[in-house]
Amino acid sequence: MARRRQLYEGKAKILFEGPEPGTLVQYFKDDASAGNGAKKGVITGKGVLNNRISEYLMLRLHDMGIPTHFVRRLNMREQLIREVEIIPLEVVVRNIAAGSLAKRLGIPEGTRLPRSILEYYYKNDSLNDPMVSEEHITAFGWANSHDLDDMTSLALRANDFLSGVFLGVGIQLVDFKLEFGRLWEGEEMRIVVADEISPDNCRLWDAKTSEKLDKDRFRRDLGRVEEAYQEVARRLGILPEAANGDMKGPEVMQ
Ligand code: TMP
Repeated sequence: MARRRQLYEGKAKILFEGPEPGTLVQYFKDDASAGNGAKKGVITGKGVLNNRISEYLMLRLHDMGIPTHFVRRLNMREQLIREVEIIPLEVVVRNIAAGSLAKRLGIPEGTRLPRSILEYYYKNDSLNDPMVSEEHITAFGWANSHDLDDMTSLALRANDFLSGVFLGVGIQLVDFKLEFGRLWEGEEMRIVVADEISPDNCRLWDAKTSEKLDKDRFRRDLGRVEEAYQEVARRLGILPEAANGDMKGPEVMQ
């Protein structure tokens, strides 16, 4: 790997200084963690697949007028991104009860929610990313009400669009997590989607069988973890070996 300054190492990604001012290089690792680092492992090939899957979904969002930090993919494990000021919130959108919502409210996993539900979590590992309300967010200054309006509307639009993209390839988008950043262009500031969108931070179930095709396979020791990530990439038409360097369109399932 070329010598360059590492700025941050997270559980699944590393950020390096980018080639031009205002850019960063995002490197995708195979490392996986769950339960805020309590469980650690390696999912072979995950970094390569998430780099591709996130590139594909961020480009599709951009085409829909949803701004993102993504600039271009550089190689198998790296992408060039715009440097943004990360808002310290995880925005979760849910369509079907699963995970912490199912547990906290005693709703059977798989129950379709009466409408899409949005939740905010404060990004703070030492506090285990606690759920917070809009009141907490504005009172503590993590985001103002205008930022919150933007994040809410972008997250709901992303949910509508991504639900359709996944359903087109036979996958239900159960829930997912987005992160947002502030992108400064002179005096102007825009809120953009940041981080990644991949089976690490989405729950993806086969539309017919409800088979899990996401990180829950790792979290819950269900086996066939690598295969699940590959299956998502394959259905989206972007499995690296199959793609021959070109982006193919999604494969529509019957
Ligand atoms: P949860 O049911 O555990 O709250 O997760 C909801 C969604 O958010 C799920 O798709 C996984 C994703 N998520 C992350 O990406 N990072 C996290 O730290 C957490 C807690 C959830």
